[in-house]
Amino acid sequence: MKKINKMHIITVLVFLAVLLVCGIVFLFNQFMEFSGFGWKSQNMLQMPVLLEDLNIDPDITEYQLNVQEGQTEFIDGKLTDTIGYNGSYLGPILRFTQGQLTNVKVNNDMSDPTTLHWHGLLVDGEEDGGPMQGILPEESWQPSFVVDQPAATLWYHPHFIGSTADQVYYGLAGLIYIEDEISKELNLPEFYGINDIPLIIQDRNFNQDGSFDYRTSMMGVVPGEEILINGTMKPYVNINHEKVRFRILNASNSQNLNLELSDNIVFLMIASDGGFLSKPASKKQLFLAPGQRGEIIIDFSKVRRESVFLLDGNKRILEFKVMEELEKSPEIRDEMAVISELPMGDNPVSRVFELESMGINGTINGKYYDMHRIDEEVEINETEIWVVRNLGGMMQTGGHPFHVHGTQFQIISRDGKVPPLEERGFKDTVFVDVGEEVKLRVVFRHPGIFMYHCHILEHEDNGMMGQFRVQ
Ligand code: C2O
Ligand code: CU
Ligand code: CU
Repeated sequence: MKKINKMHIITVLVFLAVLLVCGIVFLFNQFMEFSGFGWKSQNMLQMPVLLEDLNIDPDITEYQLNVQEGQTEFIDGKLTDTIGYNGSYLGPILRFTQGQLTNVKVNNDMSDPTTLHWHGLLVDGEEDGGPMQGILPEESWQPSFVVDQPAATLWYHPHFIGSTADQVYYGLAGLIYIEDEISKELNLPEFYGINDIPLIIQDRNFNQDGSFDYRTSMMGVVPGEEILINGTMKPYVNINHEKVRFRILNASNSQNLNLELSDNIVFLMIASDGGFLSKPASKKQLFLAPGQRGEIIIDFSKVRRESVFLLDGNKRILEFKVMEELEKSPEIRDEMAVISELPMGDNPVSRVFELESMGINGTINGKYYDMHRIDEEVEINETEIWVVRNLGGMMQTGGHPFHVHGTQFQIISRDGKVPPLEERGFKDTVFVDVGEEVKLRVVFRHPGIFMYHCHILEHEDNGMMGQFRVQ
């Protein structure tokens, strides 16, 4: 009897011990998941192709883009239906040079209509690729323009009414690099993919079978659990130069990015949406709303670590594997670009834009977008003041990135205060938080019909957009 009792007690104790260990392991895993520390990089960061200029004349640039359906292997052994430009997902990088005539041929090989918009580019309304320049299946669009602005990292994406959010989610987006005399003289890291690296960041959800799980709800958009960078899941990149330039685009439909480096490492921000800042800004955080770009330089020689992580909040999204021997890099200059205030007359025209939203629907000045209505008439070459207010709304949880076509504007103030250095460069998309009021200095140098809208693509597709005519 006694023996059996002892055995029982031991069994129960062993059982409890196992349970306790399991519990601890479970909690630890939960913690790792939650804190993002369990994240391990798996795939080498892919680099978009630099698209080849088809014109041999050095003064003319010519590109061809095919919009096509395809499949992409984000998850090992699983195929995701996607769309892309000249490939299955995202698009190549288009290099433009200031002052150059640029011709592009866009062929729509998809079964749905699309458009191709140059986000941040200063061109006439007809070349802008907004909702009015639809490209039907099997048709082409051939915009032609002279590049008329300083060096910057811009991007291109579709803008077809009602399907912009969908087409971007499934893969339509690509970068544009504009170079000018200043960008050549600055002596910045210049080896593409090695010390001049693009980061196109997007949140995505996947179904078990590998297909995208793109969902919207009454509350808005369901944030993605996975972060893709240049279409790579759980990416790492090898670092073998001291200083590396990263050109970062938030190409997510609706999610903001709060980028940081592990261990609170400091970096230099050198450019925003419209190009270089007047001087580099030393920072520990970079906020990017959808549509916005930020360029940073990380000095890995100061880091002295084999592995550094790019974080979004406290979530790891990219690993930098730092090689032991790093190639020397030149110093970063303290003067980048000269940014002078846009000249303005004594009595500038002032306009107010009030943003309101409910779930994925939204209005500007109480109106839903109407393709057949011109909301504002604007005089060409006259600097105006635009006041953008976020009135909030029902089920409104965050701010709106307000984007204007056909211009690079300046932020005068945010809630009456002068913006920080990183918001004092040229911008095409400004984040306006709930209850905030942002004042802009805006000028248009190209005629035509353009859009302003919230760059949360679901908001844009569901009414939060207006049109203006410049002449
Ligand atoms: Cu990024 Cu109206 O566009
Ligand atoms: Cu745009
Ligand atoms: Cu919005």
